[in-house]
This record gives sequence, structure tokens and C-alpha cells, in this order.
Amino acid sequence: MSTIREAPEPKISPYLQFLYGLFNFLLLGVMIFSFLSVGGFTKFPGVHISNTVDSPLAQPELHKVPQGLTPGGARDQGKTWHTPDRFPQCSMDVCFNYSRCDDMEELLVYQYDMENSPSWFFKDAWKRSRYYTIDPEKACVFLVTVDMRLENGPLLKSLPHWNNGLNHIVVSIADTWVSTQASAGSNSIDMASTMTSITHQSTYRAGFDISVPVPQRKFYPSLQRLKALDKKYFLTFKGTRYLQDPGVGGFRSNPILRKMHNGDDIIVATTCKQAKLNGVSLRQPEVEAECEKDQLIYNEFKFDDLMNSTFGLIPAGRGPSSFRLLEVLSAGTIPVVISDNFVLPFDSLIEWRRCLFVFPTSQMQRIVPTLRSLNRKEIELRREYCLFIYRKFFVDDDKIVETTAMALEARFFGVIPKLIPKVPLPPRHLNLEQPLPKSL
Ligand SMILES: *[C@@H]1O[C@H](CO)[C@@H](O)[C@H](O)[C@H]1NC(C)=O
Ligand SMILES: *[C@@H]1O[C@H](CO)[C@@H](O)[C@H](O)[C@H]1NC(C)=O
Repeated sequence: MSTIREAPEPKISPYLQFLYGLFNFLLLGVMIFSFLSVGGFTKFPGVHISNTVDSPLAQPELHKVPQGLTPGGARDQGKTWHTPDRFPQCSMDVCFNYSRCDDMEELLVYQYDMENSPSWFFKDAWKRSRYYTIDPEKACVFLVTVDMRLENGPLLKSLPHWNNGLNHIVVSIADTWVSTQASAGSNSIDMASTMTSITHQSTYRAGFDISVPVPQRKFYPSLQRLKALDKKYFLTFKGTRYLQDPGVGGFRSNPILRKMHNGDDIIVATTCKQAKLNGVSLRQPEVEAECEKDQLIYNEFKFDDLMNSTFGLIPAGRGPSSFRLLEVLSAGTIPVVISDNFVLPFDSLIEWRRCLFVFPTSQMQRIVPTLRSLNRKEIELRREYCLFIYRKFFVDDDKIVETTAMALEARFFGVIPKLIPKVPLPPRHLNLEQPLPKSL
């Protein structure tokens, strides 16, 4: 017996039928209009959309970057981190062998054990997790870390189970190998997917690549129980000011960012010390003068005290991601990310828009007005959602590994029944039935 009952046929008045017809007519018009305008937009000279891969496991084609939109060109226009799309065109249907994962009780991951690979959660926490296998024959996916050590020429192709990168995941945390070194030639990642903390929207292959966080170095659990507006400050940041070009965090020298500081409930404390130590020339004398002024503010405020804040600024550093993201979350503080072209960690699992804000570096003047416009309830809901995210997905290395496994399982969309991820649901008062505040 079916438990689903059909709804009774509704009676529709001729007037409503007329309105319905009119609505459809208008909708069709809108669709034709948007189709035409989108069609015009996509006719980019030089872009060749290839759909010729017919064998499911054929060697994928490389993306072609249209002329004039090269990363150098983008950087010239002050845009940052638009690295070239050098990854092969890949998705689960083309670049993954599902058969390897059949009959699995658990997602089994083999990790190439390389010396010097970073000991962060990808090494130790994986090994003690239930997803770890030492038997490559049993593995569904293979992890290979490429950080640092392999900067000068990774030997991906010579890995014993590489098989054109099939079912492989190239892992790079707090390092730029994948975005700067991986290329079409001998450095190609072939059919492998990437798992990086520096994940660019312009190279990210949704449903295939995974964005992971950089692990936190400091923890602030004692601040978690304070309600959002019971915190000491409204918005804070303390950190290094880069003086280099925009691509390496130079926007932190932008007066708009520094002038958010009001000495009262908004504290922006930066130091140029590191830049000076590194021998970076302070091109303009007025920049140097500002450095001295900023240093006084920097000395006045303690880092840990500034974590007692409703909102925490997270300006991108030398890459688009930051250690600060998890640190700010751990304080029950709402992150305000300033970054371009950045894929937030585990974006396929986590509803970040219910928690934090992301501002492009070109829109920093909007930060304070936006935050000041939020009402008390909205802010508190965001804080609670952020804390939910932190506790369920990031609270320690083991949790991050669980979340990474979940993100891997989410790529299957249930194709393999036992690998359906058990994604934690937010508490009832934070769940989806709750009407969204207008700003979400
Ligand atoms: C896919 O995996 C199955 C099971 O491990 C294996 O028999 C097959 O050869 C694999 N195919 C490719 C192209 O590697
Ligand atoms: C955070 O700030 C609030 C408000 O000023 C204060 O009551 C609380 O003691 C502070 N907490 C810590 C751990 O500093």
C-alpha cells in the first residue's frame, strides 16, 4: 500500500486559468530573452567547448583560456589569484573508476606514505580514521600530498598506482603547488582531482575537487558561550600588513581597510614589521609613515583580547585562505572574509552563507555599512550557525578528516549506497524551515 496520497484535483476558476496562461506567456518571454542574452555572452572568440570525450576513461582535454583573459592580464587589472585554468577537464563520470569503490562498507583511502609530507590532519588523523587502508588493492581513492617537497618536480606519473591519476587526489595544504606548479606538461595532474586549501573559483571543478581549510593554530573555546552582541568588540583584525602587489595580500595596505579602525568597537591593528624584515621597499614615504602610526595601534591591542568580537575580519594573506578562518570560528565570532576567487572549505557540504560574509578586495568599503545594517536576531542566528559549523565540521583534526571523508562521499551522490554521507543537520531552531533573515 502506498503511503503517499494524491492531492485532490483543485477547482480552478476561469479567471485564475487566464492569469495562469498570462503568467506562462510572460515566463516564456523572459526565458527567450535570457537565452538570447546568455547566448551572446558565451560566444567568446577562442573558447572551444569540447565534448568529444566519448570513452568514459579517455584522457581528458585541457581547458583553453581565451586570449586576453590570461592570468597575467587579470593581474594587470589589479585582480588577484586568477590563476590559469590548467587542470584537465575532469568530472566524476569521465575521470573516476566507480568499480574500485564497489562492495565497500566504508570509503577506503590509501595514502602514499612519503617522507616530509606535512603531518597535519592529512597524515596522522587519516591514519587513525576508519577510512584508512594500507592495501592499495582495497582503496577507492588514493591521496598524494605534494606540499613543499615536491615543489621542484613531483613524480606523480611514477607513483606505483597512478594509472593516469584515476581515483587519485592531489593534496596541497597551505602551499601553492597545485595552483602554481601543476601544468599541462610533465607536471600534469592527469585525471586526478585536487584537495587544496588554496582553491580558486576559476580552476575549481565542482563535484570533483575539494576545498579544505588550513588547520588552526590557536583556539578560543572560552569565548564561545558569549552571545554575539555581548562580545567586547564589534569587528577586529590584528595581523601583518603586506606591502607587495595585490596578488600577495597588498590590499591590506589599502586605506579603506586601515581606516575602518575607530579605536572604539572596530579595531584594525596591522604591522609592517615583517615586510620590513623581508627587505620589501616601502615605495612611497607616506606608506612608511602610516606604518609607524599603525604600529602604535598594533602594540596597543592584544591578539587574544581582540578575538572577543562579534565579527572577525579575515583578509586573505599571501593566498586566498587563512589560518584565521578556523581561529575566528573557534571564538564563536562571525568571520568576515576579504578574498577574491576563493572557494570556502567543503563548500559542497556547508551552508556558509548562513554564517559568514565574503567581500571581494575591491568592495571593502561595504563591510562596515553591511555589518551595521544587521539586526540583533540576524547576528545571533549567524553566530549560532557558525558555531554549529565549527563544532560539527572543524573542531579538531579527527573531525576535519570525518568532514573530508564526507565531502568525498558527497561526490558520489549516492551512486554507491553505502557511501551516502551522513551530513550533520543544524539544530531545530537553526534549520531550513526557519525563515531566512532578509540578508541571506
Ligand atoms: C576499474 O576498477 C576495476 C576494479 O578494480 C578494474 O578491474 C578495472 O580495470 C579498472 N579500470 C581502469 C580503466 O582502470
Ligand atoms: C569578553 O568581553 C565581554 C564584554 O566586554 C566580557 O564581559 C568578557 O569577560 C570577555 N571575555 C573574555 C574571556 O575575555
